[in-house]
Amino acid sequence: MKKVLVINSSARGLKSQSRKLTEVFTDHWTSIYGDTKMTHRELGNTDVPHITENWIAAAFKPQEARSEVEKRALETSDTYIAELRDADVIVIGSPMYNWSIPSSLKAYIDQILRVNETWKLNPNNIQNPYIGLLENKTLFLLLSRGAQGYEKGEYNEHMNYQSNYLKTVFNIIGISDIHVVTINGSAFDPEKFEKSIEIAHQTIKGVLERELV
Ligand SMILES: Cc1cc2nc3c(=O)[nH]c(=O)nc-3n(C[C@H](O)[C@H](O)[C@H](O)COP(=O)(O)O)c2cc1C
Repeated sequence: MKKVLVINSSARGLKSQSRKLTEVFTDHWTSIYGDTKMTHRELGNTDVPHITENWIAAAFKPQEARSEVEKRALETSDTYIAELRDADVIVIGSPMYNWSIPSSLKAYIDQILRVNETWKLNPNNIQNPYIGLLENKTLFLLLSRGAQGYEKGEYNEHMNYQSNYLKTVFNIIGISDIHVVTINGSAFDPEKFEKSIEIAHQTIKGVLERELV
């Protein structure tokens, strides 16, 4: 039975569209697979620690050389990485904030991008020196945005530091099976926005039925 890790990063609660997407995902997953081990990692309304000087010193030296203080500096990172390793399917709900991702999700990414834990360096390939260390995982990026036109070839493509960034980062740690589902336009046309929600919900259900069964 596949294990699922659900990560939410909106600062909003009940009004959040990206949380609604992760809920549609988990509800539909459960209706297909029944009881599943699901781990929930909340980022949006909790404090995600930023990396520190001790964190950096610790991460870039072998485990046995770390002081007690340095080991403690990596504890959150260790927990987050253990959750990622344990999961077969990772679901991230994320708003677009200022054309990018919430700072809580960025702080999380800084915690999980760990040399020799989630990626390692191949010094022989200067153009693509990153080797991902996580294997056999599927990622769902369930994203919400106030505006629209962020997809390839569209008028706001150059301002999309959300899905492009997330795909790049997760590729680096070895996750390339990535599904992106977006809701667009909450700030503009209410009719289009409703349609966008409906399409996103159907897309999530469709992908689950087609690809994961
Ligand atoms: C602080 C903040 C910054 C935002 N920045 C952008 C932005 O740069 N581009 C955009 O299209 N929408 C932006 N929005 C709109 C949100 O992406 C949109 O409301 C989204 O649905 C929020 O996610 P949520 O519903 O899960 O909370 C922003 C909203 C907030 C609160």
